[in-house]
Amino acid sequence: MSMIALPSRHEPRRLRRRANLRALLREHHLHPGDFVLPLFLIEGEGLRREIASMPGVHQHSIDQAVAFCGEAVRLGIPGVLLFGVVDNACKDAHGSASWAADGLVQRGIAAIRAAHPQLLVIADACFCEYTEHGHCGVLDAQGDRDDSATLENLQRQAISYAEAGVDIIAPSGMVDGMVMAIREALDAARHEKVGILSYAIKYASAFYGPFRDAADSAPQFGDRKGYQMDPANRREAFRELALDISEGADMVMVKPALPYLDLIRDVRERCDLPVAAYNVSGEYSMLKAAARNGWLDERASVLEALLGIKRAGADFIITYHALDAARWLDQAPV
Ligand code: PBG
Repeated sequence: MSMIALPSRHEPRRLRRRANLRALLREHHLHPGDFVLPLFLIEGEGLRREIASMPGVHQHSIDQAVAFCGEAVRLGIPGVLLFGVVDNACKDAHGSASWAADGLVQRGIAAIRAAHPQLLVIADACFCEYTEHGHCGVLDAQGDRDDSATLENLQRQAISYAEAGVDIIAPSGMVDGMVMAIREALDAARHEKVGILSYAIKYASAFYGPFRDAADSAPQFGDRKGYQMDPANRREAFRELALDISEGADMVMVKPALPYLDLIRDVRERCDLPVAAYNVSGEYSMLKAAARNGWLDERASVLEALLGIKRAGADFIITYHALDAARWLDQAPV
């Protein structure tokens, strides 16, 4: 039997042997302040509907969402990201319900703002939840997205969210020119204080599957590959990033997170804007399913995944695990 003795000056384990030393030398930490909680709003009162493909995540009527936000505030979560899930009867070819002054998200923004002034309210700006065809904008006669018509509607949507009191608008439709169009519309309407978190680097991902159940936003035909990015591409992400920065984005997002940690790191190194990572629905459901089957330790695997996203370079993480993670961190910091 060979007995190789490593010279003791080469022993990294010296720094790992004791918990307090590991804690002292830990390079990255997770805090409830790192998270933004996505929220699905529905019409009605007193409603809280669990999403079948996202156990533990619910659609909330506005009153329930307000109560739920109270829990987020108590746990130290700084912000929420709102999505509206409207009845089919409200959907049309343009998604006009999305810019109604008394629309679902507009009322949700106002109610959450009034009840929790300290909470940051971010609204997702897109059309797939509001169009009868489920695409992220207006379609032309060939079924292709008409980007200039879509940009005009996006401006209407952004202004209506701003009037309702939103802090930040997060356009997610991957429409070329969306950041500039929204910035110009907001400024012209004297909403200079409203910020833009651009879904700058958004891939055409299979991991959005459960979200499309949650938001009732699956395309009725075709897919989103004509506007979202090809998962095989990296350089393309830097072109998207440069454009959104030049158009005036205040923050940029990489989405999804876990299969794209390299991009989070690249974006972190290439720009000085705050970088958000969206730990999307499928990433949530995957860990949740494994945990429910007893195959993974939920707390340990979720915190490890979130820490990995932070280590990759994200300033904050949009995650459906936010409340659970904040509770776990409250009990035992990581
Ligand atoms: C589009 C939008 C999507 C998500 C956020 N905004 C879906 C899509 O692009 O198809 C996905 C988020 C998730 O999967 O958690 N409005």
